[in-house]
Parts: sequence; structure tokens; C-alpha cells
Amino acid sequence: MSSSSDASLSVAPGSRKKIAVNTGGGDAPGLNAVIRAVVLSSLRRGWEAWGIRDGYEGLLTDGSEGLIPLDADAVRGITHLGGTILGTSNRGNPFQLESADGAGPKDRSGEVVRRFREHGFEALVAIGGDGSLSIARQLHERHGLPVVGVPKTIDNDLEATEYTFGFDTAVATATDAIGKLHSTAQSHRRVLVVEVMGRYAGWIALYSGLSGTADVVLLPEIPFRFESVFEKILRRERRGRRFSIVVVAEGATAEDGERVWQQQVQGQVRLGGIAERVANAIAEGTGKETRHLVLGHLQRGGEPTATDRLLSLRFGAAAIRAVERGEFGTMVALQAGGISSVSLERATQRVRTVPLDSDVLQTARDLGICLGD
Ligand code: F6P
Repeated sequence: MSSSSDASLSVAPGSRKKIAVNTGGGDAPGLNAVIRAVVLSSLRRGWEAWGIRDGYEGLLTDGSEGLIPLDADAVRGITHLGGTILGTSNRGNPFQLESADGAGPKDRSGEVVRRFREHGFEALVAIGGDGSLSIARQLHERHGLPVVGVPKTIDNDLEATEYTFGFDTAVATATDAIGKLHSTAQSHRRVLVVEVMGRYAGWIALYSGLSGTADVVLLPEIPFRFESVFEKILRRERRGRRFSIVVVAEGATAEDGERVWQQQVQGQVRLGGIAERVANAIAEGTGKETRHLVLGHLQRGGEPTATDRLLSLRFGAAAIRAVERGEFGTMVALQAGGISSVSLERATQRVRTVPLDSDVLQTARDLGICLGD
């Protein structure tokens, strides 16, 4: 995809700023589109744009090794690409960095900000989810870092924005997978349990379960009863529907259960395994032959949908407008279909879960989908 806009990258009047952009936390489809919009919007103003490699890690690298100069060529043809050309990390919290000497985590946030200033940067566009934006907020509040955040996560669980980019693509991927499972489930008269991402919020499970016409959708917001799931499957069986599709968010829990996780890595719990547990229980509780699968990182990969590309480009351009207005300590957000700006404090206060009175949830109920309650 080539850019037709390079020729018009004129230098607008005003001060020549040098800005930096980074991507933190788990990747999400649309990151490159945000970077492109940030860079082209900056160049158009006559500013200089640089990328920081791997979240904040690039600022802790000696010299300029951790920095990437971003001109129009560097961002040509990347709008549709998954991943991030800057690299990312979900282990690079500068307030608690693991040290190589094994002496435990160290606070290197002061160093990050010092190097940021030494490189002559005047603003940072930080693209991230709740973890990365909380770091950005602390860097702003404690060290005065001039930062504007852009909300990213396939989980769609950030407060103060109606959607994060990456979510639409993840839902499309999950919906496609659920669709494909129907024919094999039906042919073998089996129950298929699909685990999708969503640590604290069931947005992906709900949207893909509804669009993919699942029979049961289990979300972290609604602790489920196994009995309710068994009943739904057996009711379908009695009606001659001898297969069922169950979608379960990785963070869903049974009423009397705990979140199912695989391991703890540097203080972070890696979720996974609830689909297997649900599948085993269904096999035992209904006598049905049951299989499970975990969609995992497939949901984070691939090309962003048109909706995500557009949202990413809008967010990126809006972030540069916020930098121009000096609105630091804020995050661009989608509200009532338009782009606005909210404080990072508000944006990172809590996780945005699916409201129990959401019309989407109600739609699922109206269509007879079992939510496990
Ligand atoms: O925050 C997005 C997310 O996809 C979660 O749903 C998931 O638990 C997590 O990232 C996995 O991250 P990683 O495997 O990269 O540590």
C-alpha cells in the first residue's frame, strides 16, 4: 500500500517539535496504522518523529540504538500490517524493571525520563492498554513526562473509550473460528468449547459468541453454574440439535471456582485452561463427546479490519492534535462516535467490563444463548 500523501508533507508554520512514539503491552492489530498516522501528522506540521523500540526499553539502551527515525518512507505501506514495527514488551515497566544481576526489580523511571529529555523529545505518544497507559500516567504525574496516550487492546476493556483498536479484528477472527467449528461439531454430534481472550472482560466472548451463533457464552462478568450449561446442551439434544458450541472467555469463572491460569511469570498471571475444564465437566455432566480449543494469540495477529484501521488512523492523528494543543497527561478516546480527550487518570482508573444491562447481553438472552447463570 503506497502513500499518495508524501508530496504534500509541507512544513507548517510553528515550532519544530521532536516527538517520540512507542507501543507497549500485548500487540493488537492496528498498531502500525496508529504509528503511520502519528508520523504523517507530525511531518505535516514540520515536526520530527522517532520511534522508541520495545516499549520503554529503547530509552534504556545506550546511544540511539533503541530509537528509530520515522520519516514518510518508514511508515509507507504499513496501515494494513499486523504487529508493530517498533516492537513491544509487556515486561518492561520502568518503575519495576527486572535487573540482570538478579537483585530484584529496580525503579529506572527517572533514567527513562532523563534520556527522553537528553534526546530532545518534547512529547511522547504512548500506545498501550491499561498496563502501559498506567506507566505513562505515572511517568507524567511523577516525572512530568509530556505524554498523550492512545488506547489499544484486543480485550476492549479500557475505561473512558467506547472501543479500543484491535478489538474488532479479534472479534472477526474469533467469529470466523466459531463459524468453522459449527460444521465439524454438527458432523460428529459433539460439543466444542472455544476459549477466547479476555482477562477481566468478556467483550470478545460476547461479541464473537453472538455473531458466531454460539449456544453458550461464558464471561468473567457472570460467574457460571455448570448445571445451567449442561441443561442448555441437553435441551438442545432433546430437540434434535445434537451438537453445541460453547465460547468461554479466558477469565471466566464458575460460581464456586477461581480463575484458571497456567503459570505466573514475573508477577503476571498467564491465564488459560478454562476451556479444557469446561469441556471435561460437560463430558461428565452430559455424557456428550466434547472437544476444546484455545484460540490464543491468533486473535492478536493478522491484518486489522477496516474498522480497526480507521479507528487507529483517527486515534493517531488525534494524538498529534492533542500534542499540538499541549494536552499532556491525556488519552484520545472514542465517545459517542467522535474522538475526544480524557485524562489518563480517568482512563486507567478501572477495567471496563461488559455492563450487565448492556443491550448486547440482553440480545444474547433474547436469542436463547445460555450465559451460564
Ligand atoms: O491484554 C490482551 C491479552 O490478549 C489478554 O487477553 C491475554 O491474557 C494477554 O494479553 C496475554 O498476553 P501475553 O501472552 O502476551 O503475555
